[in-house]
Amino acid sequence: MRILSGIQPSGALHLGNYFGMMQPAIELQTQGEAYYFIADYHSMTSLFDAAQRRQNTLDVALDFLACGLDPRRAVFFKQSAVPEVCELAWLLSTLTPMGLLERAHSFKDKSAKGIPVNHGLFAYPVLMAADILIYDSNVVPVGQDQKQHVEMTRDIAIKFNEQYGPTFVIPEPRIRGEVAKVPGLDGEKMSKSYGNTIEIFGDEKTLRKKVMAIKMDSRPPAEPKPDAGQNLAIQLLKVIDPAAGREYEAKLAAGGLGYGDLKKQLFEAYWERFAPARARRAELLANLDYVHQVLRDGATRARAVARTVLDRARQASGLV
Ligand code: TRP
Repeated sequence: MRILSGIQPSGALHLGNYFGMMQPAIELQTQGEAYYFIADYHSMTSLFDAAQRRQNTLDVALDFLACGLDPRRAVFFKQSAVPEVCELAWLLSTLTPMGLLERAHSFKDKSAKGIPVNHGLFAYPVLMAADILIYDSNVVPVGQDQKQHVEMTRDIAIKFNEQYGPTFVIPEPRIRGEVAKVPGLDGEKMSKSYGNTIEIFGDEKTLRKKVMAIKMDSRPPAEPKPDAGQNLAIQLLKVIDPAAGREYEAKLAAGGLGYGDLKKQLFEAYWERFAPARARRAELLANLDYVHQVLRDGATRARAVARTVLDRARQASGLV
């Protein structure tokens, strides 16, 4: 089984990225041949600062390795180190109806908000289809928000196979429903664009402050709270440490637990949960040559597969 996923280098990793995408991907690396890449080409549709992209890309590499991606098991690389995907994206684009792309969230949501959209953003799902198809991927673990893109990939692959003969493997999305939605500090979905994130790696004081500032209602500690399951700190604690989450939910429901103590508990659980990754990240940061070497090795392995699949598509479509 070949497993593939990509993550955009869009800034500091937060709990939503971690539980929605990174952790499931890391768990899957033992169940097949995993190909994971940093989607730097995709980041070009909305990030226009070169130095920032370079920095973000390195940060994601450090984050992923620190959180447990094992380069002996998974092929880990930068998307742009395999430029063959751009050629495949062109081949696929010629069989992709405009109407399909007009329905893509990536484009629709931004244009509905009046954000100026570029052609790259419009064509985003085609490049993503190329990412997936060029590695003969069977399974694509993604968050709920990317499901539509994987379905479009299937449509495009099926169309190509019908037009030019069997060429591509048809991939399946793998969505982790229960954990895909991590609430942010304001109770909305945790997302960088909402400014409600809890970062995985960062300064202890700042993060403690963020957690302690989560808004609660004004009921006194002694009052039993039958709606404890709806409490934001409880929900976050359940994601980070399910057993502690259940325990504190019961305590809050029974009455006698103050919100301050609850948030302290949440912070401690979170800080401890990522302590090993934090230490590992510091080691990697002191050894950047190793990190760059991992990405280069990954690119070499990925490129060999990509070349084969692209050649197959070139052959099938009459370019050679
Ligand atoms: N669009 C994905 C995101 O923003 C990143 C991505 C790019 C991706 N290409 C991919 C994910 C291929 C899975 C497979 O999260």
